[in-house]
Amino acid sequence: MVFILAATGATVGLGNIWKFPYLAGEYGGGAFVLVYLLCIAFIGFPLMVAEVAVGRRGRLSPINTLRSLSEIEGGSPRWVWAGGLGVLAGLLIGSFYSVIAGWALAYMFRAASGAFEHVTAQGIASIFNNLITDPERLLAWHTIFMVMTVAVLARGIRSGLERAVKLLVPGLLVMLLVLIGYGASTGYLGQTLFFLFRPDFSSLSFAAVLEALGHAFFTLSLGMGAIMIYGSYLPRQVPIMRTSLLVVLLDTLVALLAGLAIFSIAFAHELPVNSGPGLIFQTLPMAFGKMQAGGVFGGIFFLLLVFAAWTSAIALLEPAVAWLVESLNLQRVRAAVLTGFVAWLLGIVSLLSFSQWAFSFEFAGMQKQHGLFDLFSILASGVLLPLGGLSVVLFTAWVMHRESVLDALGGADGPGFRLWYFLVRYVAPVALVVVFLWVLGVM
Ligand code: PHE
Repeated sequence: MVFILAATGATVGLGNIWKFPYLAGEYGGGAFVLVYLLCIAFIGFPLMVAEVAVGRRGRLSPINTLRSLSEIEGGSPRWVWAGGLGVLAGLLIGSFYSVIAGWALAYMFRAASGAFEHVTAQGIASIFNNLITDPERLLAWHTIFMVMTVAVLARGIRSGLERAVKLLVPGLLVMLLVLIGYGASTGYLGQTLFFLFRPDFSSLSFAAVLEALGHAFFTLSLGMGAIMIYGSYLPRQVPIMRTSLLVVLLDTLVALLAGLAIFSIAFAHELPVNSGPGLIFQTLPMAFGKMQAGGVFGGIFFLLLVFAAWTSAIALLEPAVAWLVESLNLQRVRAAVLTGFVAWLLGIVSLLSFSQWAFSFEFAGMQKQHGLFDLFSILASGVLLPLGGLSVVLFTAWVMHRESVLDALGGADGPGFRLWYFLVRYVAPVALVVVFLWVLGVM
């Protein structure tokens, strides 16, 4: 139970409610969603099982787990680099994650104070623009969120947060259902289902495939060691496959519900679906502004979103903290403060990407408006996480001996294991390499 809660806390976050809808909107819906779901099923789920199994077997921070397991299995000491990559990815994602969580914090107060009541689409757009083009305000929210995260990391006690997750997930599901109910009442649910689930492959670009793949890693917190750490707390007798499946299904459910809610609101009010990172902040307030007791619902929704982001941010920075404690013998408090400070500093770059430092660039035919923020996001989830994931997959399937893997999973050598082993040994690595070659222009 503790593992399920911790892992769900790590996976369900801004990725599901903020990032998935805006990517789906940018890349035209159905085809992107399908690729994302395929990546979850054939790469994400098997990789999550592998990460949990490796973590449980190694029982150290990712870098040292890979070092020690590689030694035992007769592999190269260079596998530690995969752990190092994960630490970097966590810091990079953690930096902009905190900025966006800051937006959610700001919106929590705006919604609760009734700022969205009877507001027009234009009004909403200007509320959003005023926020993101005001670096000082963003810095304040970013700082508050980072301090919240460091406070939990420093104490290394997650029991409070585990209890929070028990309320968080049902709460989020209820709120999303309320929003979907609102969307349905406007009569646009049909169009939304069409948009999300009818793939139009002519709109499927290069960039869309890479981002769908990257987002599968991002939303499941894979390829950077977080799940490995949580796996190291898992008792031996717990079945890894079933537990991971539950976490993956929950995460996917939240994302799809968020998509249904957000797009039905967008269609009902004729708001653009391709407005990028601002999408949820420019659609949801419209619904809260029109609903009965919308201030209360809106306040609760953004509060839940902040919580979801909080439990994820902790997981993002935990690999770095664990490594500092274990390898450099730093006190936990110092390690947490140092990690948080680096991520905070880096976050300022992202924060300025929405105003002073904004520039646009083309990414595989896609116009990106937010300079280094977009670049960080693509670099982290399109490159670092898949590379980290590829390393773990290769390590599990090709470096560890089959018996050790079987033992690490604690299961029997049945059809389930064989199917999974086939996926991690062949399907996932080949798929990842093909995508990389494609992106590099080799294929
Ligand atoms: N999975 C989290 C989300 O969807 C983000 C995250 C990525 C958290 C990697 C931890 C590690 O928001």
